[in-house]
Amino acid sequence: MNNESFYWGAATSSHQVEGNNHNDWSEWEKANADRLANDAQKRQWPRHLSEGSPSPLERSNYVSGRACEHYTRFSEDFDIAKNLGHNAHRLSLEWSRIEPEEGVFNEEAIGHYREVVQALRARGIEPFVTLWHWPLPLWLRDKGGWKNADNVRYFVRYVEKAVSALGPDVTFWITLNEPLVYTKISYLEGRWPPQEKSYISYLRVSRNLIKAHKKAFGVIKRLQPASQVGIAHNMSFFEADKSHVINGFLKWFGEWRKNFGFLNAIADYQDFIGFNYYSSYVVNLNFDKVKTEQTTDMGWAIYPKGIYLMLTRLKKYRKPIYITENGLADAKDEKRAQFIDEHIFWLKKAIADGADVRGYFYWSLLDNFEWSDGFWPRFGLVAIDYLTQERSIRPSALIYKSIIEKADMRRVGPEGGK
Ligand code: FCB
Repeated sequence: MNNESFYWGAATSSHQVEGNNHNDWSEWEKANADRLANDAQKRQWPRHLSEGSPSPLERSNYVSGRACEHYTRFSEDFDIAKNLGHNAHRLSLEWSRIEPEEGVFNEEAIGHYREVVQALRARGIEPFVTLWHWPLPLWLRDKGGWKNADNVRYFVRYVEKAVSALGPDVTFWITLNEPLVYTKISYLEGRWPPQEKSYISYLRVSRNLIKAHKKAFGVIKRLQPASQVGIAHNMSFFEADKSHVINGFLKWFGEWRKNFGFLNAIADYQDFIGFNYYSSYVVNLNFDKVKTEQTTDMGWAIYPKGIYLMLTRLKKYRKPIYITENGLADAKDEKRAQFIDEHIFWLKKAIADGADVRGYFYWSLLDNFEWSDGFWPRFGLVAIDYLTQERSIRPSALIYKSIIEKADMRRVGPEGGK
């Protein structure tokens, strides 16, 4: 692997950046924005929020609305990515645009995404395309969404349509984004649409998503045998608190539930492992986060070594690995450069120790709509002023650029390079 074939870039998702979407999330936002703004009174927020940020106490923070207008400004955004030295970009297709009504495919929307992937190619940027990054078309929500096993066929039909249309320009497909995060928050904790709290539904949705992935995998490979297909799977590093032997068992359970149970279930149905890395836990009865001095604006602990410890555990799957997301909310851009630098340091060490890592996508290229937390968390390499839609490149983005330029991935490979 040399630096040319190592993919460096950033990730986004349709609902979080495009603006003007009509799906189950956009409806839910409008119905829940007042409640979320109200609940925010009880929460602690970082004092320093960026200019042009709606406050977490305002309704507008929780409604995706125009978002970053990336749907119309994608060329400008890809110029920025190119100037930042990226040679790959992860994006998602918005199912509700492509199939706004059951069985009715919108050729204009499909044409739009064709333009998007071609715009990336024209800049020498490899597209990694996610087919589903959480929101559902309204008609599918009304049919019970992922809870209804019958609905898997609609996903398969949509995948067939999207892959037939974009296949000539796309090699890397990610069927689903973080299926277990979605099932947990939407169906167990009941905090995201459709806000259920049912263990049975949670299991059912998880099972249907696995089924959907396997079928989609088959369809994509049939249409495009040379494609590379995987899932972006959120995994955490777990460490047992030494205070009690039972914590060893809890650690095993946590790892199985969050990381490996799912990977094992799809092991024969993926060409690569897509790994989203954000968190680490010390396992005791509370599943505490690893205690670190550094946290993000959202209070997430920063533990770069965890990426290394996880990557070495993933070697046993003998598949190429892409870090499909890794990033932090940091409005002041005080910690981002070091965050990226340290995660890449540990990533290189994992490669030197035999992990077959072939790409890294920072989350996110742009500040964007962070689901039920709304606009205030600032994940972007590029800041967005939501009043003017002005883009400004954060200093850390230039440091990431220089890391990319200097990285010689040939030197870090286990045998001095592959
Ligand atoms: C991940 C999601 C992504 C974004 C980041 C911060 O879990 O995949 O959409 O919200 O977290």
